[in-house]
Parts: sequence; C-alpha cells; structure tokens
Amino acid sequence: MKVLAVTSEVFPLVKTGGLADVCGALPAALAAEGVSVITLMPGYPPVLTELRDTVVILEIADLFGGPARALRGQAGALDIVAIDAPHLYARAGDPYVGPDGVDWPDNAVRFAGLGRVAAMLAKGALAVDAVHLHDWQAGLAAAYLCQRDEPGPGIVATVHNLAFQGLFGAHMLEALGLTAEQFSPAGLEYHGAISFLKASLIYADRITTVSPTYADEIRTAEGGMGLDGVLRQRGHNVSGILNGIDTDIWDPEIDPAIPVRFGRGKPVRRAANKAALQRHFGLAENGTALLCGVVSRMSWQKGLDLLLEVLPVLRAENMQLALLGSGEPALQAAFSAAAARDPDYVGCLFGYDETVAHLIQAGSDALLVPSRFEPCGLTQLCALRYGSIPLVARVGGLADTVIDANAASLTQGVATGVQFAPVTRPALEQALRRLGMLWRNVPAWRRTQRNGMAMDVSWRGPAAAYARLFRALRA
Ligand code: ADP
Ligand code: GLC
Repeated sequence: MKVLAVTSEVFPLVKTGGLADVCGALPAALAAEGVSVITLMPGYPPVLTELRDTVVILEIADLFGGPARALRGQAGALDIVAIDAPHLYARAGDPYVGPDGVDWPDNAVRFAGLGRVAAMLAKGALAVDAVHLHDWQAGLAAAYLCQRDEPGPGIVATVHNLAFQGLFGAHMLEALGLTAEQFSPAGLEYHGAISFLKASLIYADRITTVSPTYADEIRTAEGGMGLDGVLRQRGHNVSGILNGIDTDIWDPEIDPAIPVRFGRGKPVRRAANKAALQRHFGLAENGTALLCGVVSRMSWQKGLDLLLEVLPVLRAENMQLALLGSGEPALQAAFSAAAARDPDYVGCLFGYDETVAHLIQAGSDALLVPSRFEPCGLTQLCALRYGSIPLVARVGGLADTVIDANAASLTQGVATGVQFAPVTRPALEQALRRLGMLWRNVPAWRRTQRNGMAMDVSWRGPAAAYARLFRALRA
C-alpha cells in the first residue's frame, strides 16, 4: 500500500523540531510493515541541493503566483517529492520566519501550495491509497481533496502540536481556492479566520496525535487550545500513537558523535562521556556531582523559566546543568547570566547542534524536561536509550513514556525516571530532591538506568499502529 506523507520538515533536510525527526524516521519503519511512503515537502534550498536522481512528475503553470514543478528524487533512503517553486520556497534560513524574526507574510500561500500539490499528486500522478498530513502546514490538502465529490485517498491528519494552527485572514479565502461553503464553523473557519489545522481536523478521515495522553488532553478545555470542541465531535476518529526515535541514529553502541560508546551492559563507560560533557560546557570536572542535561527549544511550552527559578535547588543538591537550546532571547540571556555567576555548575550553549545534543544524551546523568505541555517529546526517549535518567513533567507523551521512581515502582524494579505534577516550581523542586535521593541510592539508580535502556523506544510498535490505521481506511 502506498501513502503520501505531506510535511514541511524532514530530518536531515530541514528541521526546527521533532516533526522533522518523525517524518525522517517513520517511512523506513512503515516500509517494514509493507507500507511504502512518498514524502511531499516544500523545495527549500537545502532540499533541492540534497535530492538525487530527480525526475519531474508534475508541472504547474501557476501555483499561487508563479510556476512550480514537483521533483521526485532520493535523499538517503527517503523517497521525496519536493515542490520547486522559487517564488514560495527559495529563501534561506528558517522555513517559517524571515531574517527579521517575523513570519513570512505569504505563509498562507506558501503552505496552501503544499496542500494544493499534495491533493493534485494524491489523486493524479501518484495515485496513493492514503495521504498522511502532518500539522497545520499540510492541513489544506484535506480541504482541497474534499472539494469534489469523487473517490479519493483516505486522509489521516497527525497533530504534532495543537499550539500551531495556521490562522490567516478570511480575505484570503478566494485566493487560496477555498469555497464559501467550506468557510463556516462546521468547516475550516475558526472565529472568522481561516484555520489550516482545523481544515485537517474537519476533513480528515482519522486524526491522530503523538501520544495517548495528549489525545486525551486536547479534548479538554484546558489542553484543547480552542479546538477541543472540534476534536470531541470527531469522537472515535481521534487517537494517540506514541512517537518512536530513529534507533539507528540514536544508538549509544555505534554513535559516531560521542567520545566513548557504550551498551546496555556497560553504562559505567558513560563516565568518560560525562567528563567530556563537563569540559565542553566549561563545568567543574566533578564525578560526584549529578550532571543534568537539557536539549530543547526555548519557549513557554518547554517550561525552562521554571528551571531557572529552581537553579538554587540544583546547586544545593550538588547538581550541575548543561543546557543546549535555542529560542526566546530573554530566556537565553537569563541562562547566560546564571552560567556567568556559577560557571562550575551551570553551562549553556545556544543554537542548534546535533553533535552536542548526542553528547548531552551520552554524558548527562539525568535529562530534564519540565514542559508545560508536550504532545510527545523525543529527548526523553533518547535519554532512556542513552542511560540518562529523565526527569519530566507528567504531561502528554512525557507521562506515557516515563515510569516514576516512587516507592511502588522501585520495589517492583520497573522505574525509569522521575515525574512531577503539577507543572509548578514547588513540584519541580520536590522532584529534583527525589532525583537527588535516587542518585545517592546507587543500586536503585543503576536499576532505573538499566530499565530505561531496556525500553523499546523504536518506531516498530508505532509504525505497526499507523499501518493498521491506513489499512482500516482502505477497507
Ligand atoms: P519539539 O518538537 O517540541 O521541539 P521534541 O522533543 O519532539 O520537541 O523534538 C525536539 C528535537 O529537536 C529532538 O530531536 C532534539 O534532540 C532536537 N533539538 C532541540 N533543540 C536542539 C538544539 N538546540 N540542538 C540540537 N538539537 C535540538
Ligand atoms: C511537536 C511536539 C513534540 C513532539 C514532536 C514530534 O513539535 O512539541 O512534543 O514530540 O512534535 O511529534
């Protein structure tokens, strides 16, 4: 069976977050389930540079203001179709935001273009069984596919983050090729605006999100970001399928980015990585301090402002912090200032760096993820695999992937990390103290670490669930 995945990001071509990791890894896992995936994405400059053996499969005289071609080619093992439309995508840097830090003013047509080409290819040149739409950027594909009352592919929409909805002014309706009938509360209208994400939630046959707990949360007023009513209406068509990670890229036994490789049986070899990580961040090379890592976008979602507030507790517990992040300038400045005050204990690097991300997973004793909400989260999955004990907020996919080290789970020998709730400063402080106690209980720490490393965080199970969903649609 053949599926067209539609996305704005694919690792390693273009990445601003976990969406790219998912779209880069899921095709191979689905192939093992007998589902072949072709991935459609905008032809951003790095995508066009990387594609090999391209052939033109579609030419469009006018795609929202200029000519476009769909180029099918290979990037590694990925079967990619890139939309070569220079007026929309030939821009350097971030895929959504211009150099001034503001969204590109024509994002509505840029991502309507993605949806339009998806709809054309799905019924035409590629004739797929299903389309798999990722996040708001792909949302209009569902609206276009449903404009004509004729058989088409099944539509699965996956929500990676409900906070990003793709809202644009109603004056764009005609220019985007949407119908007046579609612009209603029962369609893609959201309080007078056009919502690309809502289009996918309304017109898709099935909606998935990236963890079971997030699937529940987004159907509540608290977590629904204004779309909980729409999601509740879709009833049993909404489900959660947990993400995996690419266990070829994230494998401590063969990872080329880390100084010393180690397997499940040899977590003690991590000590050399810890020392390397301390050196890399200019921290005191102290084997007894508990080294905490963070790899994160720096935004309100990720709760790093709470982490700033609890730095004195980390210090009191003899914990160091190595933070790699990028995002809000005010947060970066605050962490920089904290590092300048206490360089032996707090180190930070700002920017995007895959190698350092791997070093943090391989060398930290614990990985902190204090998110206010987290649809799935991938860094805690990497941490589990790399023997860094995750300390996470009990929300979304973090709740689903970490087993809290409480008295019962420690007695049963099944703990994999530490959870805290609610997402507040006192709860985080208490969790850090519990992490400290676990650290001082060496056998319990080792057991918890081994449990995490033994967990299956691969795409095998999730890919099988997606495959079942696609097959059910065809039936
Ligand atoms: P989100 O998609 O919300 O940012 P995820 O945890 O799902 O969160 O995915 C984040 C991905 O981006 C992970 O692969 C993580 O390792 C990576 N990442 C985040 N920040 C950085 C950074 N500064 N440098 C390198 N990788 C990063
Ligand atoms: C989003 C979410 C994150 C999730 C990722 C991949 O960016 O914020 O929790 O892991 O998508 O699905």
